[in-house]
Amino acid sequence: MMTLLKTYNHNDKQHQFSLPKRNFVTYAVYALIAVALLYLFVDPAAPPAAGSGATAASSTTTTKPSSSLPPSPYYEASSPIISTSSAAAPLCDYSDGEWVPDARPPLYDGTTCGAIKDDGRSCTANGRADTGYVHWRWQPRACDLPDFSADAFLRWLRNRHVAFVGDSLARNQAESLVCLLSSRSPSPPDLAHRSADGRFRRWVFRDDSGGNATVSVFWSPFLLKGVEKSERDGVRYNQVFLDAFDERWMSELHGIDAAVLSAGHWFRIPSVYHRGGRVVGCHGCDDYAAEFNRTVAESTSSFFSVFRDAVRRTLAEAARRHRHQSSSGAGGKKPQLVAFTTFSPSHFEGHWNEGAPCKKKADRELGYTETEMRKIVVEAVEEAASTMSSSNDSAQPLRFAALDVTALANMRPDGHPGPYMRKNPFAAAGNNTGDHRPVQHDCLHWCMPGPVDTFNQILLQTILLRAR
Ligand SMILES: *[C@@H]1O[C@H](CO)[C@@H](O)[C@H](O)[C@H]1NC(C)=O
Ligand SMILES: *[C@@H]1O[C@H](CO)[C@@H](O)[C@H](O)[C@H]1NC(C)=O
Ligand SMILES: *[C@@H]1O[C@H](CO)[C@@H](O)[C@H](O)[C@H]1NC(C)=O
Ligand SMILES: *[C@@H]1O[C@H](CO)[C@@H](O)[C@H](O)[C@H]1NC(C)=O
Repeated sequence: MMTLLKTYNHNDKQHQFSLPKRNFVTYAVYALIAVALLYLFVDPAAPPAAGSGATAASSTTTTKPSSSLPPSPYYEASSPIISTSSAAAPLCDYSDGEWVPDARPPLYDGTTCGAIKDDGRSCTANGRADTGYVHWRWQPRACDLPDFSADAFLRWLRNRHVAFVGDSLARNQAESLVCLLSSRSPSPPDLAHRSADGRFRRWVFRDDSGGNATVSVFWSPFLLKGVEKSERDGVRYNQVFLDAFDERWMSELHGIDAAVLSAGHWFRIPSVYHRGGRVVGCHGCDDYAAEFNRTVAESTSSFFSVFRDAVRRTLAEAARRHRHQSSSGAGGKKPQLVAFTTFSPSHFEGHWNEGAPCKKKADRELGYTETEMRKIVVEAVEEAASTMSSSNDSAQPLRFAALDVTALANMRPDGHPGPYMRKNPFAAAGNNTGDHRPVQHDCLHWCMPGPVDTFNQILLQTILLRAR
């Protein structure tokens, strides 16, 4: 941890000492990003994707010399990146490494994978012509990260259920996994459930011998109970209930073998915090202060501490319910693994809605917010893991793991959709429909295929370590 702090102090000094002011200034910008983009993956207009169209992309590949690849503007090798060792991490520290060129084709075709086809998360289908961003492989410094094996994942997932819980990045990761598994599944998955707003989905793969494999996604951007800011619905700030769990997913835990949590971005936008039926604080709430008790409005909370509290309470509650399930002898399935994907950085260069592109060059070092948000998750996971291992009341302990992707994701600004968040983004510019709004860019989510597939490559290794 000393190393981490030192690295940060050295490289990000002015950010540290001017943090409160800087945060304040970025709220306004971030609020705009959030409303449009954090909702991006929730498109009520999207028709139900009936699980069709997934094709078995060939995964037999040849490794060719990578001389045909463009030189990468995205990273420069050999400067150190932040890493910590974690009791809960796999044997090898996958978080420390670099992207290396890889000429092999990706495991699936984003234009034909049914899970994303109708939602338009395929950058290629939306008109992105360059393909260099898919030809990279993550190489940890101290070991190798095995290639993603859809067969191995499907074997583990047979008659099991992996659930992605959180914000739109949780959904991004879920869709990546569905596409990865579709590449080897004998048949495309059924979309067994889709809520009207598309925020809750469940895909079921069936194999030839009557087995099934379930992947689901639960919308819960605060993990705790909350109501999101939504300009569209006249909700001007988040409401987070610090003493209430989000039962929309928590109550399903007994039927989930591996829960993969992903949250963070929503905590950064204006929020009001409730506890014990009262407003106890807010963040980024200056514009709304008049609506609140003055004392409360002036005791602005740090979103870091609220996020830490939310993560800790969520993990502790998962452990508590797991123990209860075990000791009640109720049988049934209980979770084996709770993994938490660490903060996934965005790469906006300027104002997102003024047509500013995503950053061209990767930040080799994590910024202050990324460092803190990542650290909160890694530390909370370690804490939950050590609490679990020191208790003896569970025959089958629940395992906690951090999917430490912050550093590797930080190096891939090229992996975001940018303007290709919508189909043919530049089509309107050339005709006289009178629509002169700048083309919006998504520098938050990830193209599929793309760097988000690496999150699931690490997830598989995390799961298999458990299975051994
Ligand atoms: C999957 O198979 C198991 C075992 O046969 C069964 O208990 C479970 O209900 C099935 N799940 C789905 C979603 O079909
Ligand atoms: C405002 O909140 C503070 C702290 O919770 C409380 O002590 C005070 O009584 C409240 N004032 C009013 C007018 O509600
Ligand atoms: C296990 O836990 C129970 C109470 O939870 C305690 O009484 C017992 O001594 C513990 N056993 C061991 C071996 O630690
Ligand atoms: C013109 O712009 C409209 C509105 O964005 C778009 O739907 C349409 O496809 C464009 N037409 C052409 C010919 O590009």
